[in-house]
Amino acid sequence: MILFAATAFASLLATNALADNSPARERTSLDQGWRFIKDDPAGVGDQLNYPELKNWLLPTSAEFTTNADLKFLSMPATDPVPNVAYARADFDDSQWRLLNLPHDWGIEGPFKQEYPGETGKLPWWGIAWYRKHLDIPAVDQGRRIFLDVDGAMSYASVWINGHLAGGWPYGYASWRVDLTPFVNFGGDNTVAIRLDNPQESSRWYPGGGIYRNVWLVKTAPIHVAHWGTYVTTPEVSENSATVRFKVDVDNATDNAAKIIVKNDMYLLKPDGTPGKLVASLPASDLEIAPHDSAASEGQTVIPSPQLWTLENPQRYVVETSLEETGVTVDSYETPFGIRTIEFTTDGGFFLNGQHLKLNGVCDHHDLGALGTAINHRALQRQLEILREIGVNAIRTSHNPPAPELLDLCDQMGFLVMDEAFDCWATGKNPNDYHVLYHDWHEQDLRALVRRDRNHPCVILWSSGNEVPDQDKTDGPILAAEHRAIIHSEDDTRPVTAAVSSYKAGFSGFQTNFDVFGWNYKPLNYAQFRSRNPDIPLFGSETSSTVSSRGEYVFPVPGLRGGKHNRRALLDFQVSSYDVFVPGWATLPDTEFSGEDLNAFVAGEFVWTGFDYLGEPTPYNADASNLLNFSDPDERAKAAIELQSLGKIEIPSRSSYFGIVDLAGFKKDRFYLYQSVWRPELPMAHILPHWNWPERIGQVTPVWVYTSGDSAELFLNGKSLGIKRKGPQEYRLFWDDVVYQPGILTVVAYKNGSKWATDKVQTTGPAAKLTLSADRKKIAADGQDLSYITVTVTDKDGLAVPRSHNHIHFSIEGPGEIAATDNGDATSFESFQAPERNAFNGLALVIVRSKAGQKGTIKLSASSDGLESAEVKIRSR
Ligand code: GAL
Repeated sequence: MILFAATAFASLLATNALADNSPARERTSLDQGWRFIKDDPAGVGDQLNYPELKNWLLPTSAEFTTNADLKFLSMPATDPVPNVAYARADFDDSQWRLLNLPHDWGIEGPFKQEYPGETGKLPWWGIAWYRKHLDIPAVDQGRRIFLDVDGAMSYASVWINGHLAGGWPYGYASWRVDLTPFVNFGGDNTVAIRLDNPQESSRWYPGGGIYRNVWLVKTAPIHVAHWGTYVTTPEVSENSATVRFKVDVDNATDNAAKIIVKNDMYLLKPDGTPGKLVASLPASDLEIAPHDSAASEGQTVIPSPQLWTLENPQRYVVETSLEETGVTVDSYETPFGIRTIEFTTDGGFFLNGQHLKLNGVCDHHDLGALGTAINHRALQRQLEILREIGVNAIRTSHNPPAPELLDLCDQMGFLVMDEAFDCWATGKNPNDYHVLYHDWHEQDLRALVRRDRNHPCVILWSSGNEVPDQDKTDGPILAAEHRAIIHSEDDTRPVTAAVSSYKAGFSGFQTNFDVFGWNYKPLNYAQFRSRNPDIPLFGSETSSTVSSRGEYVFPVPGLRGGKHNRRALLDFQVSSYDVFVPGWATLPDTEFSGEDLNAFVAGEFVWTGFDYLGEPTPYNADASNLLNFSDPDERAKAAIELQSLGKIEIPSRSSYFGIVDLAGFKKDRFYLYQSVWRPELPMAHILPHWNWPERIGQVTPVWVYTSGDSAELFLNGKSLGIKRKGPQEYRLFWDDVVYQPGILTVVAYKNGSKWATDKVQTTGPAAKLTLSADRKKIAADGQDLSYITVTVTDKDGLAVPRSHNHIHFSIEGPGEIAATDNGDATSFESFQAPERNAFNGLALVIVRSKAGQKGTIKLSASSDGLESAEVKIRSR
């Protein structure tokens, strides 16, 4: 699993604090105090632009054939790359902006109408430099000094003291650069990192900058290699588990080394520290030639293993130590889990021998208003919200995730489909990954698998999403090559891909995957099974229903969808009756039914869990995309309408696909999925809200999502009848309710017994604000966050659904407003501004602690004509 001890060990801790600081190995965060400029010295681009840059970065092919260390990043000490002003040690960067990582330069905006909506209408592209001074003491002489970058967007080249030391072009990869040959031991060192983020390189908001964590790692010359441990559990039963360890060791000295490798295995305590010793492997001798690597392998059998399950994600940790002539020269920790996974052709997916339906979501990597700058708490909150829906699996669409996401999934008990690419040799954009594919796909695949293969949460490797090569002659050849590369690094998990082509399910392409992932094909599952009896199947991407939280458009079409009226077009919102999908997509119901009728399907990954920045389908890049909807009649009508209106300036800059909105607020669809994915949870949810003064006397359909099988609806105490779900029906409809203000109540039943209730009530006018913090105690580490929901309510405290009041925020004490949001996909308000409109009654303030400053943070909210509110948070 994780092959990098360092991150692996850090993951064990509740915070991002440094860890694994044995005397032999140090790993410290390098996030603080970088200088930044969005600029490039004249003439540099000519030498450092890709593909020229690859001449400096590429390995020779011999270096990454099998399990050899990923050494290809080290540069020769006498690099011939010319002097670049911003890279020089003596360059004066004091005028550059001072900031801390992780950093996303795009999220600061401003939003501009003329920027592409596809990538969020934010300025994420361009060239930028980061510089930092490092003291490396004289006592470190003789050690290896590495820079570990979890992710930098993109085309990173790293310089130390004026020398180009390495880099990595793919913005989603994690990578290491060996700084040792250029380090000034006992003095100041300057690290300079240049990033070059090309336009037209992404179908969504990629962000820009060193947006993940950066680490300085110091080791002895003889040390566990980068991502150098691999733990597998080839045999697992209730009574015993065989645990196999492989440790790759690098010898960076001029002499042959004789070392002893020891592996001790402990239970991992909930606080992330090693608990009880479970097993000690016999020490093994290892000889390593000078400047070479060697692997030590061993195994042990432990009785009564505590399995990693979703309910109790118990983990173990292996402490590896290397001894040379009685002295410990390295020690390294690898957390892992003991569990079995199996995809079958007839019964779906099994975890530890028990059937488990994959109730998954796809998510992009951005964290909404925080942009792509990684934050542990923001990720954890996303998972907490998804868990409430009943989500048990995450697809990291369409790229390797931040290591923290996998650590959290290990800890919290989520399964992960770990994805490499959005394209292979054929691109979807002029400057996307296909430019790198030929030179880099092998390194990128190996780096992904080596980094992530010790995580119990990872159950599938995905080599790509809807790659255009799927229908080309070369497609099967490329797919087979990827599978071979991945399996040479890890053969304990199946390789899949998210395939969108119908044809590719039968053309032969499909046979190059251990498990087939099909996007948006619930109506073809049975056909796939009969023609591919030997290939397990799941819905790798499903639904793509679009909606805006709290927006309801009348008249309401039936479940076939597609019926728009003018208002839906011109407000750039999408009705939350959950009936609209783009032409290639299906409603949640169609997927549910496809799976219910075909039990061999392992489950699904919904597009998407959270709304994300960019790709605002159906309001993508220009007015013509308004025609994305599925109903042919309505599409034709819309085409005529658009023609007569001329070009419309579309403000949309984030997606409508989420089950929750960009701010993390629940859309109605949240409850539809919950009703199916958590059948044991008594719940019922009424839509729409009941504030329709302009609809008195008009038909206003009321729908209910419930885990019950039937329900009775009441308006102002009068029954509107009982509705019952038929086979493959997932919602209850009262389509002829005539609106009158008051109270709607639903009583849901299951198997004849009362099961759950819900109530929606007409409110008075907006009168006050209320604030509620998801956490009232946070850590004073400059990273931790409290998410504060701001609700516009009437005088009795009922949320006023259609309110859009402008709200101002102020903060006192040791905290800052990291961002504000409201989930409105069309808002150009800055995410950093301490003010914002409510969107359908809600707004969000994200408060961040200040490092080392403890005390009480007070956040206040005010709005003209409304009673103000405040909330206190303790930072400790
Ligand atoms: C899929 C694609 C996703 C996203 C989605 C929107 O085809 O794989 O990345 O674009 O469509 O419906």
